[in-house]
Amino acid sequence: MSENKRATKAIVPAAGNATRFLPSTKSVPKELFPVIDKPVLHHIVEEAAAAGLSDVLLVTARGKDALTDYFDARPDLEDALRRKGDDKRLQAVKQPEQLADITAIRQGGALGLGHAVGRGAHFVGDEPFAVLLGDEFCDIDDELLPQMIDLQSQTGGIVLALLEVPWDEVSRYGVASVNSTDNDDVVEVTGLVEKPARENAPSNLIVVGRYILPGTIFPEIDRTEPGRGGEIGLTEAMDAMRENGTPVHGVVFKGRRYDTGEPVGYLKTLVELAAQRDDLRSFRTWLRDFSAELDD
Ligand code: G1P
Repeated sequence: MSENKRATKAIVPAAGNATRFLPSTKSVPKELFPVIDKPVLHHIVEEAAAAGLSDVLLVTARGKDALTDYFDARPDLEDALRRKGDDKRLQAVKQPEQLADITAIRQGGALGLGHAVGRGAHFVGDEPFAVLLGDEFCDIDDELLPQMIDLQSQTGGIVLALLEVPWDEVSRYGVASVNSTDNDDVVEVTGLVEKPARENAPSNLIVVGRYILPGTIFPEIDRTEPGRGGEIGLTEAMDAMRENGTPVHGVVFKGRRYDTGEPVGYLKTLVELAAQRDDLRSFRTWLRDFSAELDD
């Protein structure tokens, strides 16, 4: 096992149909929905790049070529902005292609998260790597990924990000049973279950969409039988590795997670990030007045 090797590559599964946002997602992938002036996927790749993950594989689907277009150069637009002397916008247009080396592969069917990650086997080889789900992101300042990558290079196993949520939300997620360790921020994972009924959930610690995995996950994904909906689960493959002796740890995340995968989470993300921006101070003022009216 590559105990001291650090993850430098990331897989971003982004092949879903995003039915919760239909009809918008008929032609605009949800990963390109704007979070103010950058799409969701830009925030995700920024988070990866800030953690040293500068090689990124997007797992996409038919009709989602706009995802890769976003990270490509736009010489026509760049020339127009250069002629106008609009340096600020020119830099903004060039930023996506400068963030990371982007590669794309199509999933070839909605066959589950495990299957999507498995499409990255050749891209990754047998190194440890990160998975960042394409519809959520964290504040870069919280340094979640760097902490996870450090821990994975020490254990050589699986490192997950866990978040405590209200009990009525657990059935929407992968849920971990855990033992504490000497480090307050780190737990040992003793079991994983995907979307349990609330009464069967072993805890209210959910798996958020950030994983550091060893390359040995790929043969395990190949061995994983399709479950509900004919989908191959990543949670099931990880739990099988755990049962066979791979160490699994969770970093308990205390920072802010932005979940743009469903309408209310997307709206909260927009409002929260807009309210933090100095250049949008007038929005904050408006929001304060608007919320006061709501309370009436
Ligand atoms: C996926 C994972 C789940 C995880 C969740 C985080 O579920 O399967 O274990 O907790 O992402 O967002 P999905 O949102 O694809 O249903």
